[in-house]
Amino acid sequence: MKRALFLVAAAGLGSLLGACGGAGPYSRDGGVTRLATRVVDWNPTHADVGRVAAVADRGSDVVVFADGAATVMESGAVSLVDRSVPKWTSAATIPAADGGVPWIVGLDDRGHVRRLRARAGFEDVSARWGLENARIIGAVGLGGRGAAFLFDGGVAVANGDGKVVRLGGIPMTMIGGGGGVGAALSNGDVVRVDPASLATKTFALNGAIATAVDDAGHLYAATPDAVYAENDKGELALRFRATLGAIHGLVASKGRVWFAEGPELGAIEGGHVVATTGAKLPPGGRLFSSTTGDVWIVDGGILTRFARDASGAGTSVPGQPTTPSHQGPPSTLSPEDAWRAQIQPVFARVCAGCHLPGGTAGIDLSTSAAWNKRKADVKERVLDTRDMPPKGHPLGDADLAAIRAWLAH
Ligand code: HEC
Repeated sequence: MKRALFLVAAAGLGSLLGACGGAGPYSRDGGVTRLATRVVDWNPTHADVGRVAAVADRGSDVVVFADGAATVMESGAVSLVDRSVPKWTSAATIPAADGGVPWIVGLDDRGHVRRLRARAGFEDVSARWGLENARIIGAVGLGGRGAAFLFDGGVAVANGDGKVVRLGGIPMTMIGGGGGVGAALSNGDVVRVDPASLATKTFALNGAIATAVDDAGHLYAATPDAVYAENDKGELALRFRATLGAIHGLVASKGRVWFAEGPELGAIEGGHVVATTGAKLPPGGRLFSSTTGDVWIVDGGILTRFARDASGAGTSVPGQPTTPSHQGPPSTLSPEDAWRAQIQPVFARVCAGCHLPGGTAGIDLSTSAAWNKRKADVKERVLDTRDMPPKGHPLGDADLAAIRAWLAH
């Protein structure tokens, strides 16, 4: 009954927009390819993390913010439980105010921004942006060094060079950012902000509930009925019309913009819309971005993580065992393919926890180019002195053989 009513509403919107009748090219009936996802076991030890309010990650470091406790996990194992803050409201991974490794921050219920200090608890950092007297309810990285903060009266944009500007006056309800661009929702408008010049551009979108910006700086917005994306002409154009339930979330996670449509997930990647069938999302879940390209969903205090099931096509999820393929590749393989076959599985399983871009090691080893550049270091540290990977992250004999084989050709 509910669904039938909703379909009528969606069709009504379609005719308003002048699109063709029926579901049209922007729905599951046309132009949308099937998306395969899988649930990631982010808590393999079944640690009790409490009633979850928010989550943020950086590679395989995950912080689960719950009532009464923030639980820090490294590659699935709990490394810290901090009980200094009774209530958290939101979380994000944002560029560090000091230019270092990105900060995982939580927002407490007093509206202060607290960053995780390497395994040593949380530090109130609101004052780093002059926001100690503001009640912050949202934070987002803008890609590059900028960040934006949502507070009761508006949005503060930090350009990354120590300059923080408040866009007040208009009540804002939600922010997004990426590719050096910020976005906010204000009363039926989607506002795009350039952090350098503070120039704004406004798009009218009645009923907008969420906005996001992808890595390339393209703006996205959603209403309960549809998802829109900024096109080449700089207009917000319809990209997906909901038919299975209301759109209830939209976030940018490395390389894609995820959205939730009732019980299903969808994503826009490289301009293509893909959507799941049978994902069985929690109905009203709130989406959180992941630095890995995955998406987190918090519903009723329960946290779920979904990954695109790429079956070997690019996305590797740190902490997830990948089936290693250690056979020496036929000599016809390109260096890139050889790396992918011999090294990438080992990397995903053992090294990714520290060596992703922005990872704790400060050395990105996630690409074949990075490994090629460091062949001598890899040989010395991993095979000769054996002090890398550090204790507690063992390499099996087959892993060592794969690395040796790769170094040899
Ligand atoms: C627990 C974190 C951690 C893991 C897991 C880890 N590393 Fe490291 N790695 C580091 C840190 C921190 C450094 C920088 C400090 C140092 O050189 O010891 C580093 C440095 C290196 C270096 C030296 C690079 C340079 O430019 O000096 C190499 C090579 C390296 N790691 C390879 C690997 C490989 C290969 C793996 C997986 C098989 C791995 N590491 C797993 C933390 C880690």
